[in-house]
Amino acid sequence: MKKTAIITGGTRGIGAAITRKLARQGYLVIPAATGPEEKNAEFLNSLRAAGAEVHYVRCNVADAADRENLVKEAASLTGRIDVLVNNAGVAPLVRADLLEMTEESFDRVTGINLKGTLFLTQLVARQMVGQEPANGRRGAIVNVGSCSAEVSSVSRGEYCVSKAGVSMVTTLFADRLAGEGITVNEVRPGVIATDMTGAVKEKYDNLIAQGLFPIARWGRPEDVAEMVAFFCSEAVSYTTGNYVDVDGGFHIKRL
Ligand SMILES: NC(=O)c1ccc[n+]([C@@H]2O[C@H](COP(=O)([O-])OP(=O)(O)OC[C@H]3O[C@@H](n4cnc5c(N)ncnc54)[C@H](OP(=O)(O)O)[C@@H]3O)[C@@H](O)[C@H]2O)c1
Repeated sequence: MKKTAIITGGTRGIGAAITRKLARQGYLVIPAATGPEEKNAEFLNSLRAAGAEVHYVRCNVADAADRENLVKEAASLTGRIDVLVNNAGVAPLVRADLLEMTEESFDRVTGINLKGTLFLTQLVARQMVGQEPANGRRGAIVNVGSCSAEVSSVSRGEYCVSKAGVSMVTTLFADRLAGEGITVNEVRPGVIATDMTGAVKEKYDNLIAQGLFPIARWGRPEDVAEMVAFFCSEAVSYTTGNYVDVDGGFHIKRL
């Protein structure tokens, strides 16, 4: 029986690369995003053409009923959910100074990035703890956090707060689920070339040229996907509550 993997936001950018990678590894992949299936048809068909088994679910992770439906549909496919990748995330619609940040934007960003991640993890964890262990493990959960969990950006404070929160979600669920045979780890991308960073491309082009990152290039979605797939793999059974930066060395303090 194929292992199943839910990838939220698994249709574009980093999530699409994760879906592709896990599909290539033989998972039955369940990408979830907000749009109708037709909107993602090109991506989904390209996976199927390459031989992947794909089941798309429309799900706004900020919505409780959508989350319930996602977990129900995913579990109905093989009776198990082996992997959850909490990747769905948004940046603020407007980069506003911290002194101008609105509650509306805070609620939107934390509702998707933090609340969505926390409560979807809770639902999937309930499903996983009822599963028979396979090769000693009931499941693996990987959160796509961000360097913004630690790096201050005063023009998108709500995003930083949401990712700092995700970091504690990783810690809490790792602690709670360790005895259940479920690992929970986190990958923190730096600056990755996707739709999310498209609007600030010139800014980061300049910063990269000025040497902001030790590895002087944009990160690629595939760079992140490789690390996520590693944390999903059975090779990782004695590591939980950890994170890895995928940021070209951005986290290194330099003099
Ligand atoms: N790009 C970077 O430099 C960077 C850096 C650090 C961390 N990250 C994190 O990496 C993750 C992916 O980012 P990305 O750059 O790949 O973003 P992206 O290109 O904008 O793609 C975002 C994905 O999330 C989905 N999504 C958005 N809101 C959703 C919701 N409410 N419910 C379910 N799915 C939703 C989108 O699907 P729709 O088609 O439904 O919109 C899309 O598939 C995010 O958590 C982001 O915070 C990114």
